[in-house]
Amino acid sequence: MINFSNILPKSASAIVLPLEEKTIHNRKLPSQLPRELRTIITQLKFTPKSGKLYPLQYGKNRFLICGLGNIDKLSRPRLCEIIKSAFSSDFVRDYSKIAILPPNQSNDFIKRIIEAWLIGTYSWDKYKSERDSQKKSLTILAKENQILQDCIAVCNGVNLARDLVNENADVKTSQFLEKKIRLVIRGKKDVKIEVLNKTQLKKKGLNLHLAVNQGSANEPKLIIIRYQGAEPKSPYTALVGKGITFDTGGLNLKLSGNIETMKMDMGGAAAVMGTLQNILALKPKCNIIFAVGLAENVIDAKAYKPGDVITGYAGKSVEIANTDAEGRLVLADAISYIVKNDNPKRIIDIATLTGACIIALGHDYSGLVSTDNVLANHLLQSADKTDDRLWRLPSYPELKESVQSNIADIRNLGYPKGAGGMLTAAEFLRQFTGKVTKWAHLDIAGTAYVEGKGRRYYNHGATGAGVRLLTHYFLNYA
Ligand code: BES
Ligand code: ZN
Ligand code: ZN
Repeated sequence: MINFSNILPKSASAIVLPLEEKTIHNRKLPSQLPRELRTIITQLKFTPKSGKLYPLQYGKNRFLICGLGNIDKLSRPRLCEIIKSAFSSDFVRDYSKIAILPPNQSNDFIKRIIEAWLIGTYSWDKYKSERDSQKKSLTILAKENQILQDCIAVCNGVNLARDLVNENADVKTSQFLEKKIRLVIRGKKDVKIEVLNKTQLKKKGLNLHLAVNQGSANEPKLIIIRYQGAEPKSPYTALVGKGITFDTGGLNLKLSGNIETMKMDMGGAAAVMGTLQNILALKPKCNIIFAVGLAENVIDAKAYKPGDVITGYAGKSVEIANTDAEGRLVLADAISYIVKNDNPKRIIDIATLTGACIIALGHDYSGLVSTDNVLANHLLQSADKTDDRLWRLPSYPELKESVQSNIADIRNLGYPKGAGGMLTAAEFLRQFTGKVTKWAHLDIAGTAYVEGKGRRYYNHGATGAGVRLLTHYFLNYA
C-alpha cells in the first residue's frame, strides 16, 4: 500500500529521510521536519555517505537517515537499492507504518521510491508458515499525480510476473495460466482471446509445440490476446513469450545444479502477462498481439526424442538434436502461427532461452538480437529509461550455416557446439519470422531469476525482467 501526503504522520511511524551531502552542508533540511530535529541533525555535522543508514529516535517516531552522498553520481538501480535497503533495514522492520520524505519532488526520484517499495521489498513467502501477517503501508510526502499512479500500476505488473514465476511448477500449469490471463482481461473491452488447446494445435499442425509437451500430463496451450488500442487497420506489434512451466531438459536431461530453478522457464510468458496487465491499465493507442506458448518439457514413455525430425506449423522440418533446446521449438510454432494469421508489422519475442546468454552477459543485462535497427534502438532506449537493462548482440546472414541439418530443413542446436549459443538460438527463431522483417528477440535467461539471497534491489526469486521495458516500449514507440 502506498499513500501520498503533505504532512508527516502523527502516529508512531518509521520515517525514512534520504539525505544528500549537500543538504547537510547547506543546512537546508526539509521544512516538514520539526525545527528541533532539524537543529539536532545539523549539529551532528556529519556527511551522509552513499548507502549508509543512520537511525535517530525522536519522540514516538523513528527517523532513519539514508545517505545518498552525491546524488548525481548514483545510477538509477543503485539509488533504488539504497532506498530499498532503508525500507528493509532492522531499524524500521518493526513498524507497520513507514513514511519517506524525499529530498526533492521530482517524479524521477519519487518513482525510484515507488520501485524500491513495490519491487524492492517484494518477497515470495506464500509457502512460509511465518509470514508478515500485517501488510505494511508507505506514505510518501509528495503530491500524487498520474505519472506516479502509472508507475505503481507498472510495478504491479512486474510483481504479477514474479508471482507466476515463483509459483510451483505443478501449480502453474497451462490451465492455471489460462485462468490467470482470463482474470487479467476480465471486463476489458479492447481485447479478444484465442486459446489453442491440444486438439486445435494438432488440427492446425503446431507439431513442434506438441512435441515438446509430449511427455507431460498437462495440456499444451497457445494463448493469444489481441489488444486493439488504435484503429483496426493500424499495424500490430506481436509480443510472444516462452512459457515452459518446467524444463527438465527432456531425454537430454539436465544435471543437478542446472535443473533446480527451471520453474522459471516460463519467465518470458510471465513477462508477457505482466505487460498485458499494464497495457490494459494504461491503455496506449496502439495494437498489440500478446501470445504465450505454454508447455512442460518433462519425460515419460511418450516424450519426444533426440534424432526425431518434426515438421511444425511453418512447414519446415526440424531435426531435434537436443530435447533441452525446447524453447525455440515452441516459439517457432507460435511465431509462424502469428505471422501467417495476423501478419504483424513487428515481432518481439521474450524467453529464458539460453545458458549461453548468461555466459555472455551475466545477470544484469538481458540479451537482444534484432533484424531491425529502429526497433532495436527503441528497445535499447526503453531499457535505458527503466532498469530492464539490455545489450545487443549481432544477427547476420552467415549464421544460417550454424543451424543447418543433414536430415532436415533446420536443426534445433547450433554449430559448432557451444559457439555463440545465444546467437544460434536467435537465428533459429529468425528463420520462422517469414515475411516479417522487423523482429527482436530478448533472452532473459540471466535476468529473470535471482538465486541466493538477492541481487541489486531484488530479493531471492523472480525479478519480472522485461515487464517495465516492454511496457515502456509500447507506451512510447509502438
Ligand atoms: N531453459 C533453458 C535455458 C536456461 C538456462 C534458462 C539457464 C535459464 C537458466 C533452455 O531451454 C536450455 O536448456 N537451453 C540449452 C540449449 C542447448 C541445449 C543448445 C542451454 O542453454 O544449455
Ligand atoms: Zn531446455
Ligand atoms: Zn528451456
